[in-house]
Amino acid sequence: MIDRATVDRILDATRIEEVIGDFVSLRKRGANYLGLCPFHQDKNPSMSVSSTKGIFKCFACGKAGNAVSFLMEHEHMTYVEALRYLAKKYHIEIVEKEETPEEIEGRKRYESLLVVSEYAQKYYADVLWNTDVGRAIGLSYFHERKFTDETIRKFGLGYAASRPLTLCNKALRDGYKKEYLVDAGLCLEREGSGELYDRFFDRVMFPIHSISGRVIAFGGRTLKADKSVAKYVNSPQSEIYDKSRSLYGIFQAKNSIAKEDKCILVEGYADVISMHQAGVTNVVASSGTSLTVEQIRLIKRFTEKVTIIYDGDAAGIKAALRGIDLVLEEGLSVKVVLLPPEDDPDTFAKSHNLIEIREYIEENEKDFISFKSDLLLEESERDPVRRAQVIRDIVQSVSVVADPILRNIYVEMVAEKFGQKPESILASISQMRRARRALERSRRRFDEQRQGGSPAAAGPGEGPAPEELIPAEGPESFALDAPAQPAGYVLRDAFLAVSERELAYYLVKFGEYPMHFESEMYYGSEQHEPVTVAQYIHDALSDDEIVLKNDLYRTIYDRYYAFVANLAEGEFTERQKRVVRFFTTSADAALNQAVYNLILEEHPLTVKTYEESIPPEEQTLALAVPKSVLLYKKRITELACNATAKAVNEAQKSGDEAALRQLVRKLQMLNTVKNRLSKELNRL
Ligand code: CTP
Ligand code: MN
Repeated sequence: MIDRATVDRILDATRIEEVIGDFVSLRKRGANYLGLCPFHQDKNPSMSVSSTKGIFKCFACGKAGNAVSFLMEHEHMTYVEALRYLAKKYHIEIVEKEETPEEIEGRKRYESLLVVSEYAQKYYADVLWNTDVGRAIGLSYFHERKFTDETIRKFGLGYAASRPLTLCNKALRDGYKKEYLVDAGLCLEREGSGELYDRFFDRVMFPIHSISGRVIAFGGRTLKADKSVAKYVNSPQSEIYDKSRSLYGIFQAKNSIAKEDKCILVEGYADVISMHQAGVTNVVASSGTSLTVEQIRLIKRFTEKVTIIYDGDAAGIKAALRGIDLVLEEGLSVKVVLLPPEDDPDTFAKSHNLIEIREYIEENEKDFISFKSDLLLEESERDPVRRAQVIRDIVQSVSVVADPILRNIYVEMVAEKFGQKPESILASISQMRRARRALERSRRRFDEQRQGGSPAAAGPGEGPAPEELIPAEGPESFALDAPAQPAGYVLRDAFLAVSERELAYYLVKFGEYPMHFESEMYYGSEQHEPVTVAQYIHDALSDDEIVLKNDLYRTIYDRYYAFVANLAEGEFTERQKRVVRFFTTSADAALNQAVYNLILEEHPLTVKTYEESIPPEEQTLALAVPKSVLLYKKRITELACNATAKAVNEAQKSGDEAALRQLVRKLQMLNTVKNRLSKELNRL
């Protein structure tokens, strides 16, 4: 909560060359400063820092920004963290916006929980290093596991002893509140007496850090081989610790994850630590549970590439397979490395040196398609039924990939590997995606119904029917009557606007109409429910995560779906009337006018160019709408092709080989997609 005036004062005081100069050595060059760009592997100084403009720009990789964005990128700070950092650097007092008493209370509580956790971490470390029992049991255990003192310190490891060296005694004596010790999950209250006792005792302690390095929880490992003792005791969920949002080691690993543009994922605490000690520092652990979406998003802040290294045994393979689809779904690229069956990352890291580890990873890293297919095909040798299942299984994995370009790359890979036609794989994929969406839709509907009875028969409701709304004098007179200033929509992209306008046209005019396909070629083979024009368009666009580029049409699009989501069931022409009424009586005059113009039109432009004689429009929907969609996609692809071709040229000029290779691959992919779209378009 930093108020605007303070933000201004901070930014006014900030000298960008001083801020960046703390991380990169800068030389003065004319009016500017020059240094090695920290955002790519820079050999000659290509980052220019302009003191007067307050900005930096790298001429090699293109990264640019101001002091705040530099800190956000380089130090992975949030916006507010960056501002606080600058405030501290320039001795500017931060005036907090006035908080409510509850906010103040909440913040203090949160901070107090962090403070006791940090206190506990220091205490356990102190016991480890400075008491006889700590050294004899805890420290010697870590040494036995070949952790160096430096490593033990880096990860803040400790030892939780038992009486009289309990955390609760010491903490209470030092004035820490019982409430916080309990709520941070460190201590428990004995029923009845209310006496405190420690959650962790006779265990070596692994503190778990937040991304910014605060201690938020612990894992305590027993040293007993006794199977009746839990191997790990972990902190419970608390206000400061959400297990599903934390990754062990993220604080220590984040910089090298970003730098190497890759995150290695392992299972346990010891795995992370041993890999670090061996010099592989971009490693985090999911701590024995299966990966969550939040954890993946955490990784995504630093890289899009994940390599899973699990034990080579059956359990490890299973765990690796479990993780894959989720990571793919979040749009990251996944590779898998299996270790020799007798190893886990911990033992492997200890028995090999850095070069060997790196080499092993490099040589054994498999993209998920090869990993899954090698694994599964081995089981299904010479069994065609099983083989078909395997392919389906892999295609299923590909179908969860959200990024259409990446998905297409995978499609090509599967096609090649299994000797299939890309078209048929694509068809299965869109069928799978559609089935999933249908499932989600019905789930949502089910949830809504359970939550609040039937969805409201929504809409402004009072407006006249569309026929009555169409003014006899034509739309102009309506415009005169319209409330003052239209919202002023800008056409950002005229090239795409033609197609977007057409999609908007079909929505407002025919969105609720069913589409009757003669063949099911546009829509796979298993038809579950009749598809409306709106559903078709929505599915087709969300398949490729397309968002309309022009404000006006995007607004129509978004409002359309928001409106019909709450629209009572009914006959489709009735529903369509409601849609028209909704759009032509909204508070947004410019929008009303635009929708008017659409409704009054007949047969949009692009379809006319395809049809010689035009039958009644309702009957052509099944042909016209897919055409519009395909054409739109083709236009988007063409734009992407042009932009990529340009980038290829630039990369050629600057001699950036790695970027060039990647861009060329992307361009090839886009061209393939474009050709495929053209072919489909011609077939219709
Ligand atoms: N884990 C847990 N509770 C358990 C067992 C495991 O929380 N009872 C979590 C821990 O985060 C652990 C990870 O799962 O680090 C992996 O489990 P495991 O391989 O059994 O533990 P390691 O940390 O590898 O322990 P060690 O090498 O010391 O046996
Ligand atoms: Mn282990």
